[in-house]
Amino acid sequence: MCGIVGYIGVKEATPVLLKGLKKLEYRGYDSAGIAVLGAGGLEVCKSKGALNKLEEKVSALSAQASQTGGASKKPFGGTLGIGHTRWATHGEPSDINSHPHTDISGKIAVVHNGIIENHRKLKEWLAGRGVVFRSETDTEVIAHLINYYYAGELLVAVQAALKRLEGSYALGIICENDRDHIIAVRKESPLVIGRGGGENLIASDVPALLEYTRDVYYLDDREIAVLSKDKVEFYNEEGERVQKTLSHVDWDAGAAEKGGYEHFMLKEINEQPKALTDTLRPRIIPAGGTGAMASSRSVNLAEIGFDKSWAEARRVVLCACGTAWHAAMVGKYAFEYFARIPSDAEIASEYRYRNPIFNPSDIFIIISQSGETADTLAALRLAKKNGGRVIAITNVLGSTLAREADLVMYTWAGPEIAVASTKAFTTQLMCVYLIALQFGLLRGNLDQAGLDHYIEALEKIPTQAEAVLKSKETIQRFASLCFNKSKVFFIGRLFDYAVSLESALKLKEISYTHSEAFAAGELKHGPIALADESTLVTALCTQEALFDKMDSNIKEVKARGASTVVITYDDVHHFDESADTVFRIPRTPDCFTPMLSVIPCQLYAYYCSVLRGNDPDKPRNLAKSVTVE
Ligand code: F6R
Repeated sequence: MCGIVGYIGVKEATPVLLKGLKKLEYRGYDSAGIAVLGAGGLEVCKSKGALNKLEEKVSALSAQASQTGGASKKPFGGTLGIGHTRWATHGEPSDINSHPHTDISGKIAVVHNGIIENHRKLKEWLAGRGVVFRSETDTEVIAHLINYYYAGELLVAVQAALKRLEGSYALGIICENDRDHIIAVRKESPLVIGRGGGENLIASDVPALLEYTRDVYYLDDREIAVLSKDKVEFYNEEGERVQKTLSHVDWDAGAAEKGGYEHFMLKEINEQPKALTDTLRPRIIPAGGTGAMASSRSVNLAEIGFDKSWAEARRVVLCACGTAWHAAMVGKYAFEYFARIPSDAEIASEYRYRNPIFNPSDIFIIISQSGETADTLAALRLAKKNGGRVIAITNVLGSTLAREADLVMYTWAGPEIAVASTKAFTTQLMCVYLIALQFGLLRGNLDQAGLDHYIEALEKIPTQAEAVLKSKETIQRFASLCFNKSKVFFIGRLFDYAVSLESALKLKEISYTHSEAFAAGELKHGPIALADESTLVTALCTQEALFDKMDSNIKEVKARGASTVVITYDDVHHFDESADTVFRIPRTPDCFTPMLSVIPCQLYAYYCSVLRGNDPDKPRNLAKSVTVE
């Protein structure tokens, strides 16, 4: 989604804004712009396309001016400014529709992430007062509204304008008549304030701030921040001052860099062993003591308040979107498997519009890498309203999901920058497995020996993931032979079906290959009609009890001309006859294979994307964090 940056301090704002926008590129965008308060007043530069187009335009304007004017008039030389990367929602990508948008006086500039739902009504109202609109965006109304209410106090005008806005917004606002402030506002769209020494910043996400500070304030819904170069003040929607706590971001700037990899996605795929270790290790309490004092190893889930009261739960509802929903599906199977408790995996964008049945003893597990997905947050609010116990699994500290859920379990994956989710997925799986195991113990479906066995298996997963990653060249070679297949299907059952869905999503989103996942048993109910010589079918075969069933399915598609790939254990030869190609993963209990079997599929999607000439980090039409419906 759109990215916002803002700077007030002693440095020239333009390079800070452009660098900040670069760090937010991963969110997806189609145009960009900046507004800077310089000696000559409010200067705005906007451009459709990649950020380098904007950079070129700013340099050209600066060069032009230095030939004709003096240094004092250097355009974009001011120390206060805002910037934006836009992902078009209202109005096509174009220079005019790019942000910042200004009011009719050209003195107020606004950048916006979100959607103003009542913009049509406001547009009519403003047009009736003589405002001529230049863009097709919903955002432009905000600049005009602020101007309408402006009588010398920017904050007062912003507060009045906000009362008229319906929808979601994160805003950065500057005004030529107020050279000492940036105003930042948040409602349902993320915004972080960076607190520096003699300089302060705003950004949609932390990576844009890391070069300047690691001390941040997370703006809450309906809060306003007024930044000057030496301080930041916060107000609630009633205009009362609020005190906020400064948070320190632990990850260093390098965590959000490519670190020698060609793409963030490849880096993040390779980071999975570490991410899995970091997610698992702090939650395992080793066995200790001897004799009467001996204690068995256990899972520590104090962070989500896991205690005996959970035994009253009659159902677990896991809810999420996209890749996180696939993790929820694995979670559903894991809860049934280990804890024998009814579980549902719900698509948040569907769930929020249903009329779901709630039970006060339900446990809701809401999963989101970003913690900012609009549909997922709506599902969380629905569950909370109906009295459920809401646990968030998220990767982003201080995200809206983390703040609104009753309790949070973090996936310690580190920043995930590539649009396609990889390490977030496998660490989400690690979290749901840990909860399911502990639940199994509590409900008496698992004894201590069983728990020990599974914990031991989980502890091996990071090393096993490392081993799978070693086969990346084999997968790269395979991708080079069939990256241009027009139809790719993934088939599997249960846990393997969830991985099939995730693999098909990964391939379609970054390589633009038409790929679909089918529950293998459903093939003969329709999808097999599609199988022919142009089809590649990847069969996920990691559940021993289903090997024969899967082998029949593979033979069925092969008989219709499809090429077949099987992903199975490294000691299994069940599919040697039916598979044209086999990718192998190390042995682990069948229920844990998703954390390993997805890796070859992530790599396959990555290499297909690169071979097709795409940028896997920034797939077309997609945004990292879907903060609007
Ligand atoms: C796919 C992908 C998306 C996200 C989905 C939810 O690779 O990244 O499908 O999984 O948009 O995002 P979060 O997890 O941030 O709620």
